[in-house]
This record gives sequence, structure tokens and C-alpha cells, in this order.
Amino acid sequence: MNEEQRQGAGLLKPDLVNPPEKDYSRYFQTVYTPPSLKDAKKRGKEEIAYHDDFEIDERFRGMGTNRKFFIRTFGCQMNEHDTEVIAGILIGLGYEPTDIVAEANVILLNTCAIRENAENKVFGELGHYKPLKQKNPDVLIGVCGCMSQEESVVNKILKTYDQVDMIFGTHNIHRLPNILHEAYLSKEMVIDVWSKEGDIIENLPKVRHGNIKAWVNIMYGCDKFCTYCIVPYTRGKERSRRPQDIIQEVRQLASQGYKEITLLGQNVNAYGKDFDDIGYRFGDLMEDLRKIDIPRIRFTTSHPRDFDDHLIEVLAKGGNLVDHIHLPVQSGSSDILKIMARKYTREHYLELVRKIKEAIPNVTLTTDIIVGFPNETDEQFEETMSLYREVGFDIAYTYIYSPREGTPAAKMIDNIPMEVKKERLQRLNKLVNDLSAEAMKPYKGKIVEVLVEGESKRNPEVLAGYTEKNKLVNFKAPRSAIGKIVKVKITEAKTWSLDGEFIGVVEKEKVMS
Ligand code: SAH
Ligand code: SF4
Ligand code: F3S
Repeated sequence: MNEEQRQGAGLLKPDLVNPPEKDYSRYFQTVYTPPSLKDAKKRGKEEIAYHDDFEIDERFRGMGTNRKFFIRTFGCQMNEHDTEVIAGILIGLGYEPTDIVAEANVILLNTCAIRENAENKVFGELGHYKPLKQKNPDVLIGVCGCMSQEESVVNKILKTYDQVDMIFGTHNIHRLPNILHEAYLSKEMVIDVWSKEGDIIENLPKVRHGNIKAWVNIMYGCDKFCTYCIVPYTRGKERSRRPQDIIQEVRQLASQGYKEITLLGQNVNAYGKDFDDIGYRFGDLMEDLRKIDIPRIRFTTSHPRDFDDHLIEVLAKGGNLVDHIHLPVQSGSSDILKIMARKYTREHYLELVRKIKEAIPNVTLTTDIIVGFPNETDEQFEETMSLYREVGFDIAYTYIYSPREGTPAAKMIDNIPMEVKKERLQRLNKLVNDLSAEAMKPYKGKIVEVLVEGESKRNPEVLAGYTEKNKLVNFKAPRSAIGKIVKVKITEAKTWSLDGEFIGVVEKEKVMS
């Protein structure tokens, strides 16, 4: 939706995030162009340059010798994956990882801006680091991730959190060696945030968490501009990786023995829309990836609007493409969907679900829902409840709407009291729990295939893993089962997990997922 259409749809005109009250320019050691909504809306189809020439400058090698780093990640899978890249760069500089914050020489918070409580967690955490910094002034504390892309956050940190030594944005990760170098030399806060989205750099190092499941980015950014959402501003415009780079990465992970890949993008169904030289879209990518010998391929997140018939056709072929689709609906009311600028109606969503279920009868659907969007009426909320029942989702992630500064929805006047929003969330969560428990019941007595990830968090005697449909299964088995796909007979079905008895390692065939 362009600016004119947005106004035509009765939505408020977005404007710039608040300008800084004070001139902090002396702090800006490097490039700082505050990301802005106005610029974001103007972004066009400039060429995206692909690079594979990242290398750590000779000058910086050994910077981390005898030093350790600690990273805490607050955001989505995309942020988790960025943390793997940041760790890869730090290890390339000679740093060692540590899980103990008190022994780290570099502490990084990889932040999330999606809701206010995500941001508050980060500010709380920064507060805890003040004494650490006082005790050891040589420690470097950095803030990166989506919050760094918000001007108001940068200003708040400058004003109130002088324990922070560096702030760098989501497009600046590759500049980490230079940023650290400057931070060691400088007494001022080093700020390196670009508003213009980065080009795609293919050869950044990564240190993956574990060797069973891996994340693979297929695209960056988001151009959907849902009116409540900060992501299109913090992550920049949509840009897709070239198919051959993705295919090669997945092949390599398969040959390294990884069992499951999750393809990442804020809106994976828009994959390839930005290619002007090839007509290659998400369905084509999935078709190519199915031919790779790796047991499971998932993706997240898909936007209902771009979910096309070709993709459904390819997913229906199954094989390593899992029969679980996360399909955020956000609301069951067409009126609310319209002011959210989701670009589909309740009817369109239900029709899409019908088509998916027809093609993949065994499919499991999960979703995201926002309650208490500005002025959501009781009737509109009831439409969300009825849609939830009608689709029969297995699980939903549910949120109370949180206004994000600079987004169009944040300017909407809202007359729904927080108490009412909380009550709606409780009612929805009750339904989510009930349907989750119901979806689990049929598993009792059945045999499922589980990718074993390791010890259960609650009990080290027990192993845990997930089915293709992402159901958590706990069972006793020899530790040699870790990293393998095994058969488990379910003995008890709970609301959120299943208990079972280990049968044996699966070779090839598939039973219940
Ligand atoms: N790209 C994904 C969503 C990423 S954010 C998609 O479109 O499906 C994950 C979820 O956070 C969203 O689906 C939405 O339900 C929720 N969310 C995003 N912005 C929010 C806000 N301002 N307040 C409350 N929830 C929000
Ligand atoms: Fe945000 Fe997802 Fe909408 Fe993009 S598609 S604006 S990431 S909710
Ligand atoms: Fe949060 Fe940024 Fe992900 S806002 S949800 S970390 S893309």
C-alpha cells in the first residue's frame, strides 16, 4: 500500500519518529543516520548488491585474544540467527564464548523491538550491568538488534545508560570488528546504525548453536507495513538471497549431518518478488530444497496474502517438507484486518485454510493473534474467537497490542481500557489451551517420529525432541539417540507436550508426525 492508498483507506498519515531533544552529534563516532518511517515508505527498488568478500582485517586479528564474550538474545529466530553470525565474527577475532556474564570482556544484548515488554526487558538487563562496568571499566557493553534501529531508544541509552559502550544496527553486523576497535580506543559511546538496509553479504562467518537443527535466512526485511509493526523499519526493505546461495547452504548443512532446517524470513511467501531477472518464487525454492537429502525443512513466517497455489501444490508433495504451517492471522475480523493493513479478509484467510487442508489433509496449523487492537469491539474480538474454532489451530502465540512509536497504529486513538484487553487475552488463551489439549489427545497410544535434541530441561534422565508437527515429546532413551530421528510410543498426552516410550531409531520411513 502506498502513501496515497494508506490515506485513502482512512489510516493516519505516518510521520517521523520524534527528533532528538539534544544534539548528540559529538557522540557519533561513525555513521549514524536515524531510521525513519518517512524514508522507509519512500524506499524503492534500488539494486541490491550481493557480496562475498567479507574478511577480518589483519589489524583486528587477535583483538579477542584472552578475552571472552557473552551475548544475550531477546528476539525472534532471525535475531537468534544474527547472534550466530555475531558469535562467528567474535570467534574470528580471537574471542572465546562464555555463558557467565561476570567473566565476559564483551557483553552484547541482541534486542527485539516488537512489543514494549521486549524493550523493557532490555533496559532492565542494562541496569544489571552497571555494577559490572563499575567493577571492571575495561568491559565493553554493546546493544544491537532491532531496538538499535529506533532513534528514541538510541537517545534513551545516550541519556540514561552510560554503561553502554556501543550501539550497532541490524544492517551493521559485518562492521563489528571496526566498532569494537573504535570502542576500545574511544571514551565516548560508539554508534553505528544505518537506516539504509545493507546489501546481502553471503560469506559472514557463523557459529551455529548445536549440530542438529539449523536456521537459514532466505530473505531479509519486510515490505508489508502492517500498521502496528516495527519490523519494516528495524529490518529494512525486503531483499531475497539468490536461490543458488540458499541451496548450497542447505546442501552443506545436510552433508554436515544437520537433520532439520528452518528457513527464515519475516514474510517468506514474498521470497523472490524482488528478483527482476528470474521468475523464481518461494514455491520454486521449496521444490528445489525438497530434493536435498535432509529429513526436515520448515519455514517461518508465512504471510497469508502471498501464499500461492503453487506453494500449496509443492508442500502437498511432502517428503522433507513438514506438514506444519505457521500462518499468522492476527484477527478474525475483516474490519480490524483492514486497519491493520494485513491485505486479506477473514473470508480470504478461511478460503486459504480450506485450500491448504484440501491439499494437505494431515496439516497442522498454528498462528499469531493480536488482541485489543485500537478500538476493537467485543463483536470483533468474538470474530477472532470463532475463526480460531473454525480453523482448529493447534497452538497460537497471543499478544495484547503494544503501540510502537513511529508506526501508523500508534497514532490511532484507542478507547478500549487495558482491563478489557487483558480479559480478552485470558479468554482467548483459555480457548488456545483447550484446543491444544484436544489436538494432543489422539496421540495417546500412537507411534510418532521424534528428532531428539537432548536432555529434557526439567529432568536430565529424560530425553526430549519434536515431531514434524512440532509437538514436544519426552521419553527415556539411551543418550546415543540424541541427534537422531527415533520412534516413540505415546503413553500420555498433556496440554503442551507428550510423554512416551522409546522404540528405536528410524531409518527412512515415516509414521505419524
Ligand atoms: N513477520 C511475521 C511476524 C513477526 S512478529 C508475520 O507477519 O507473521 C511476530 C508476531 O508479533 C506477529 O505475528 C504479531 O502477532 C505480533 N506483533 C507484532 N507487532 C506487534 C505489536 N505492535 N503489538 C503486539 N503484537 C505484535
Ligand atoms: Fe510485521 Fe510481519 Fe506485518 Fe511484516 S508481515 S509488517 S513483519 S507483522
Ligand atoms: Fe523482534 Fe526484530 Fe525479530 S523486532 S521479532 S527481533 S525482527
